[in-house]
Amino acid sequence: MVQEMAWVVSAAIVVAFAAAFLWIAFGAGDKTAYEKILPKAGGVRRTWFAALLALGVAVTAGTLPLMPYPTAQATPAAMQAVTVTGKQWSWEISAKEIKAGVPVEFRVTSSDVNHGFAIYDSKLQVVAQAQAMPGYVNRLRHTFAAPGTYKILCLEYCGLVHHDMMAELVVKPN
Ligand code: CUA
Repeated sequence: MVQEMAWVVSAAIVVAFAAAFLWIAFGAGDKTAYEKILPKAGGVRRTWFAALLALGVAVTAGTLPLMPYPTAQATPAAMQAVTVTGKQWSWEISAKEIKAGVPVEFRVTSSDVNHGFAIYDSKLQVVAQAQAMPGYVNRLRHTFAAPGTYKILCLEYCGLVHHDMMAELVVKPN
């Protein structure tokens, strides 16, 4: 659904760009004195600048409160810590069962090459992901709202059996 919408929007943008290029290419032979178009072009430029500025400010103000960093700083009292190690080609996860509604901190690393630790819900939509990197521990915090069986898939091509690097995570009602 989202994928289809993204495809349609991308196609529409490509067509719009192609149309604009053609329009400019066909009109390239027309000549007009610069002084004549200057007032109009200046007005269009000012309007665009003001509109983009307003849009930028609105989008920034609207999305800044959604930044996860302030909440990620505080360590909740009841935090479930889960160690995750990726290796060619399996996941070693310290807990197979997790409680819903309680924050989880996945401490994600790798014992060989880079892997992508991605958690998918039952509809196979990504709910959270982090890189599994040798020599680093990446902390991924997530609170599972809904109980169920979640799938862990590797999101980073890591060799021949990358596609089979799967695991499951059971989230129990709290
Ligand atoms: Cu591990 Cu792809």
